[in-house]
Amino acid sequence: MLSDRSRSVVQATLPAVADNIETIAQRFYRHLFDAHPELLDGLFNRGNQAEGSQQTALAGSVAAFATALLETPEQLPEQLLSRIAHKHASLGIRPDQYQTVHDHLFWAIADVLGAAVTPEVAAAWDEVYWLMAFALVNQERGLYSARGVRPETVWRPWRVIEKIPETQDVTTFVVERIDDRLVKSSLPGQYVTVNMLMPDGVRQPRQYSLTRADDGRHRQFSVKRVRGTDKPDGEVSTLLCDSVGVGDVLTMSLPFGDVVLDDSGHPAVFISGGIGVTPMAGMLSHLAQAGSRLPITLLHADLDEQSFPLRQQIVRDIRALPNARMHVWYERGGDSRLAVDGVHSGTMDLGDFTLPPDAGYYLCGPLPFMQAVRSALLGRGVAPRRIQYEVFGPDLWQADLDTSPSLGST
Ligand SMILES: Cc1cc2nc3c(=O)[nH]c(=O)nc-3n(C[C@H](O)[C@H](O)[C@H](O)COP(=O)(O)OP(=O)(O)OC[C@H]3O[C@@H](n4cnc5c(N)ncnc54)[C@H](O)[C@@H]3O)c2cc1C
Ligand code: HEM
Repeated sequence: MLSDRSRSVVQATLPAVADNIETIAQRFYRHLFDAHPELLDGLFNRGNQAEGSQQTALAGSVAAFATALLETPEQLPEQLLSRIAHKHASLGIRPDQYQTVHDHLFWAIADVLGAAVTPEVAAAWDEVYWLMAFALVNQERGLYSARGVRPETVWRPWRVIEKIPETQDVTTFVVERIDDRLVKSSLPGQYVTVNMLMPDGVRQPRQYSLTRADDGRHRQFSVKRVRGTDKPDGEVSTLLCDSVGVGDVLTMSLPFGDVVLDDSGHPAVFISGGIGVTPMAGMLSHLAQAGSRLPITLLHADLDEQSFPLRQQIVRDIRALPNARMHVWYERGGDSRLAVDGVHSGTMDLGDFTLPPDAGYYLCGPLPFMQAVRSALLGRGVAPRRIQYEVFGPDLWQADLDTSPSLGST
C-alpha cells in the first residue's frame, strides 16, 4: 500500500507521468543498454526493442500498477504481475537486477520531466517502483523455488531429435533432454524460452508454447517463420526453421506461463487463429493423455487447411476425447479432409454457435482476432474472468485490466 504522503503526490503527478511514460520508457532502455550492453545478449529481445513493443509494455504496466494503487489498493493487478513474473522467470531475471532497472528508469523520469521531479515527487514514485518490484521479486522467487532452481539455472540443453515440416511456414521440433538434472513436466498451456546464438555472436531469447504433454524426457514446440514484407524477416524463427536440424543442441528454459488449463472441472473452449493454435494443442494433448471426459470445444481459424499447423495431432486428440468437438473456419473456403465436426467458410463468427454453460475460454491468435472474439464472448454474457488469453509478444492489450489505461489497444 502507498503511504498517505506518496498517495497524494502520485495522484497529482500520474497524468504527467502517464502522458510521458512512452518517452520515459524509450529513454530508459537507451540509457540502460548504453550502460549495460550485456543485457542485449541473451536477455532482451532486440526485435521487440526495434518494434517498440517492449517499451510500450513496460510503460503500460507501470501506469496500470500506479493506477491500481490509487483506485483499487486492496486489489492489485494480479494477472498483469503474474504474466510479467512468468516471463521474467523464463529469462532467469535476478532480484539484484531490479536496482539497475530502478536507477536507469529514474534517470529517464528526471530527464524527461525535468524540474517537475522534485525530491518529493521522486520519493513518491520510488515507492511505487519498489512496491511493484517487490511484488514481482516475490512471485519470481516462488516460481524459481517451485521448480527447485535459481535464476541462473533455469536453462537446460536439449537435443533436437525430430524436425517436422507442418505447413509451408511452420516447423515442429521434438527435443530430448541430455542432462541428468531433474526436469519438472510442464503445465498445459505453458511455454519455454529458447535462447539462440545468432550469427553475429549475440544470443537472442524467444518464447515457444509447448505443443504436447511432457513425458519428462521429450518436449515439442512449433515455430512459425516470420516473413518480413517491408520489415526484416524474424531472426530467431528463420534461424530455427532454416538452420537448426536433428542432432543440434538448443538451450531452453524450464516451462513457465500463467495461461494454463483450469483443472477445476469446467468445460473448456479453445479458440485460436493461425499459429495461436500451439498452446491449444498442448492443452488438448494433456487432456487426451489424462483421458478427460470434460466437454471440450476447439474453434480454430486459418487461411485454409494446408496452413493449419498440428492439424493431424489435434484431430487425433479431439477424437480420442469422448466429449470433444472441433470446428474450423477457413478464409479461403470451407473444404476439409479432416474428421472435424464443422467446416465454415470465411473468418470466425461465433454467431449463434452453442457454447457450453460455465466454460473456461482460452484465446490465442493475432491481437485483433482475440479482441473480436473476446468482445463476442462478453456480448454473449461470458464473465471476463472466464476468459484467458495468450499474446505472442509483450502484452500491449492488457484486457484483464478493464479499469486501467489500455495502451496500444487499438
Ligand atoms: C508466450 C509466448 C508464446 C509464443 N509461442 C509461440 C509459438 O508457439 N510458435 C511461434 O511460432 N511463436 C511463438 N511466440 C512468438 C515467438 O516468441 C517469437 O516472437 C517469434 O518466433 C518471432 O521471433 P523472431 O526472432 O523470428 O522475430 P523478430 O526478429 O523478433 O522480429 C519480430 C518482428 O519485429 C520486426 N523487426 C525486427 N527487427 C526490426 C527492425 N530492425 N526494424 C523494424 N522491425 C523489425 C520483424 O520484422 C518482425 O515483424 C510466442 C511468444 C510468446 C511471448
Ligand atoms: C518493476 C520493475 C519491472 C517492471 C514493471 C517490468 C515490466 C515488464 C513487462 C511489462 C514486460 C513484458 C511482459 C509481457 O507482456 O510479456 C517485461 C518483460 C521483460 N523484462 Fe521486465 N520489468 C521490470 C523489471 C525487470 C528487470 C529488473 C529486468 C532485468 C534486467 C527485466 C527484464 C525484462 C526482460 C528481458 C523482458 C522480456 C523483454 C522482451 O521479450 O522483449 N525486467 N518486463
